[in-house]
Amino acid sequence: MRHFLEVEDLKPSEFARILNLAGDPNPPQALAGTGAALLFEKPSARTRSAAEMAVVQLGGHPVYIGAAEVGLDQRESVEDVTRTLACYNAVIGARVFAHSTLERMAEVSEVPIVNLLSDEAHPTQALADLLTIRDALGALEGLTLAYVGDANNVARSLAYAAGMSGMAVRIASPEGYTLSESVLRRMRRRGCEPVQVSNPEKAVRGADVVYTDVWTSMGQEDEADQRRQDFAGFTVNRRLMAHASAGAVFMHCLPAHRGEEVEAKVIDGPRSRVWLQATNRMHAARGLLLWLMEQAG
Ligand code: CP
Ligand code: NVA
Repeated sequence: MRHFLEVEDLKPSEFARILNLAGDPNPPQALAGTGAALLFEKPSARTRSAAEMAVVQLGGHPVYIGAAEVGLDQRESVEDVTRTLACYNAVIGARVFAHSTLERMAEVSEVPIVNLLSDEAHPTQALADLLTIRDALGALEGLTLAYVGDANNVARSLAYAAGMSGMAVRIASPEGYTLSESVLRRMRRRGCEPVQVSNPEKAVRGADVVYTDVWTSMGQEDEADQRRQDFAGFTVNRRLMAHASAGAVFMHCLPAHRGEEVEAKVIDGPRSRVWLQATNRMHAARGLLLWLMEQAG
């Protein structure tokens, strides 16, 4: 039984295979006659729609479940909700506050568990991101990705995915918002060596991809004012983009806060690939589901 809680759950060759499956124009109906449970503790525009459509394209039935409906650990334990959903569904995707909720689900599940975002990781986003870089720049290996901002769930999964695909990764974050030493150690064990810097220009210099995400993630709303102060100088604007390579693209997982982590002229400008990224969420989800069904036999 294979689960997908973080990019590190995959070998580089498996990650590459999922990207290739994502491009299959005539995918097999791998979910025909079955369901895919999609459980959300937090809001979503892209992840939910992309996953639902991917399930439909594979002949399955997406079952959206809001957290309040099942009452995780209130009406019923996480474990019993998981066991129940596995009775009717070939796969369970979940967006949760605590990553440990996903680990508890994986512990008891009879079907694959997919992380649709947790406080620690956003691996389905990373699949779509690497697909987008390949679409936009024609390759992955040898390119340089600069991530500017909070070294959060999105940054972690992206660093794994890019490192695993042969890209160089530089992360510029203010003090207190960098990857922890333990995360860095885990990454190094898998051959990923992100370079952390405190100066955004240093990260972006000559980069092929410039990526950012919100300064305040879902669940951190109380810290928003402090974070706005701490991230001053980390906005991706045209001046910063001028330090990147001539053909560099801008990426953002969305939702975006124009005027905070990114200037409108950048995200809405010619270098931006954010809508290709959003589209690729669906293709990447389909590739992942196909691979998980292959593994499940
Ligand atoms: N990028 C992303 O995960 O978007 P949603 O939160 O809207 O799903
Ligand atoms: N880091 C953001 C990503 C949203 C897709 C969050 O966790 O809210």
